[in-house]
Amino acid sequence: MNTPTSEQDRLLDHSYDGIQEFDNPLPRWWVWIFWACIAFAAVYGLIPGNVLRGPGRIAEYNASLAEAARLHPPEVEASEASLLALTHDSKALVAGKQLFVTTCSPCHRPDAGGLIGPNLTDDYWLHGGKINEIHHTITVGVLDKGMPNWGKMLKPDQVTDVAAYVFTLHGSNPPNPKPPQGVLVPREK
Ligand code: HEC
Repeated sequence: MNTPTSEQDRLLDHSYDGIQEFDNPLPRWWVWIFWACIAFAAVYGLIPGNVLRGPGRIAEYNASLAEAARLHPPEVEASEASLLALTHDSKALVAGKQLFVTTCSPCHRPDAGGLIGPNLTDDYWLHGGKINEIHHTITVGVLDKGMPNWGKMLKPDQVTDVAAYVFTLHGSNPPNPKPPQGVLVPREK
């Protein structure tokens, strides 16, 4: 069997199928860390973990939902009056023009005379020529005809700005326009 060694006194006095084992206790420092972790977990879970403090997880969840709803209001159809007011707002029109030139001109031409998309300066409209109808077309697009749904890609005030800008282009008579498409919608004065 075992040759006697200095460790022999820690040999446990059982033997399974001739196999004996030493009692190797964990070092004291390790055991202390182990107990300290358990104690810390209990304290951490109860106090800084907000289990006993704060409004509670349901109230916190509802507050987060309310905050999200505030940050992402549901899409509202802009009213005709508020859009018409923007057509007199030079800041909105400058922003709308800038957006039109960068985003819309590849299909509608920088002067909106029409290319892939229709002429936006004439009296003929496929989807309605009232300012709220123009805003609606820009927001939802005409996906199967190649007009993107800008409401998903632009911020709401960018869409209203560009709608106001488009509305002011009426009658600007760009050279060499695309032939009229849609129905005649005489502009109300
Ligand atoms: C990828 C090409 C493309 C881009 C970019 C594009 N459009 Fe269009 N747009 C179209 C097409 C095509 C139509 C015609 C849809 C149809 O035939 O029903 C259209 C139609 C429209 C109409 C409706 C015209 C009508 O007669 O009723 C408006 C308004 C309009 N676009 C505004 C915009 C604005 C504003 C932008 C930029 C934010 C823009 N478009 C960017 C392709 C485009």
